[in-house]
Amino acid sequence: MSGFRAVRVSEHVFWVGAVDWALRDFHGYSTQRGSTYNAFLVMGEQPVLIDTVKAPYRDEMLARVASVVSPKEVKVIVSHHAEMDHSGCLPQVIELIRPEKVYASTMGVKNLADQFHHPHQITAVKDGERLKLGGLDFTFLETRMLHWPDSMISYLHADELVFSQDGFGMHLATPHLFADENDLSVLRYEGRKYFANILLPYSALILKLLERIKTLGISIKVIAPDHGPVWRKDLGTLLGWNEKWATQQPENRAVIAYDTMWQSTALMARSIADGLREAGAEPIVMPMNCLTRSDVMTELLCAGAFLVGSPTINSTIFPTLADLLSYAKGLKPKNLLAAAFGSYGWSGEACAELERWFKDMGLESAAPALKVKFVPDGAALEGCRKFGEQVAQRVRERAKA
Ligand code: FEO
Repeated sequence: MSGFRAVRVSEHVFWVGAVDWALRDFHGYSTQRGSTYNAFLVMGEQPVLIDTVKAPYRDEMLARVASVVSPKEVKVIVSHHAEMDHSGCLPQVIELIRPEKVYASTMGVKNLADQFHHPHQITAVKDGERLKLGGLDFTFLETRMLHWPDSMISYLHADELVFSQDGFGMHLATPHLFADENDLSVLRYEGRKYFANILLPYSALILKLLERIKTLGISIKVIAPDHGPVWRKDLGTLLGWNEKWATQQPENRAVIAYDTMWQSTALMARSIADGLREAGAEPIVMPMNCLTRSDVMTELLCAGAFLVGSPTINSTIFPTLADLLSYAKGLKPKNLLAAAFGSYGWSGEACAELERWFKDMGLESAAPALKVKFVPDGAALEGCRKFGEQVAQRVRERAKA
């Protein structure tokens, strides 16, 4: 395949990845702006391939490599992360180019073997190991559980460049490879979405990694993740965002996620939002009939409260909210208050079930659950507004602390 070319990133590094304009679902995470699978070619004395791409993009990646050097000249491949979006075509690429060495972390060696059952010998690099590959010095750092046990990053000394695999990445298809060529507000939103939907449970490890990078005292000019743009300017912005998201310091806002059967719970949500706003906290109103679990997680990152509204249907909560809570529970958001609300007609089990979810998630109560029978009248909506005010007061106090 020809027609695809590499893009130069730095003195020795070329981007040879693929842009996936059509991706809308990344294992349950909605990716409205598509994604990229970044792979890099490092041109020292011998070419080194850094990561690969999702299997269907193999030929496109090899064509980009071929625009710089014959793929058969690549003697070394480094796999920073075994997940299929970066390793899906690795076995086929090994078959095609027969490299002398393939490197991965200790856990990467195991995970790649379990995933592909491929006979090629993969060599483990140790945490902190410095290796000369293709004539250039690399230092490898294991980043276990960021976000897989096999994850690692590497530093290319000559170009002062970090290959950060999933870290500092985002799902964003863009024709502009460099972050400084893209709209910063889009980068911030998609970076935050990526953090909230992929990295959130490992926030404490991210803070440790950022600290470790600081203590290494290395100069970093470029951060090249495996998804989204490459950063060559304003690295402090990117690192600052990640540090802030990882601390999960609550802000003065509350996410109201709800679904509704006959608009009663929707009315309650809107009235609660009014109460929050009037009492000085920002409501983020999220109807689940038209938004995704990933949208909600994005807004929950650094929010002060999570208010969930569900009607009772068949003695339980609405399925969209069960989906959301199951997803949110796994991502383990911290420092959140929570409260339930909803309309019911007969027995009204939904709020009690929502509160069981909150308990399971370890979330502190913002207010007792608010239930309304059938359609809320003026007095009931006034109660919703007061409920919003009550939550706003708690959210504001915590945001100030
Ligand atoms: Fe982008 Fe964890 O794979």
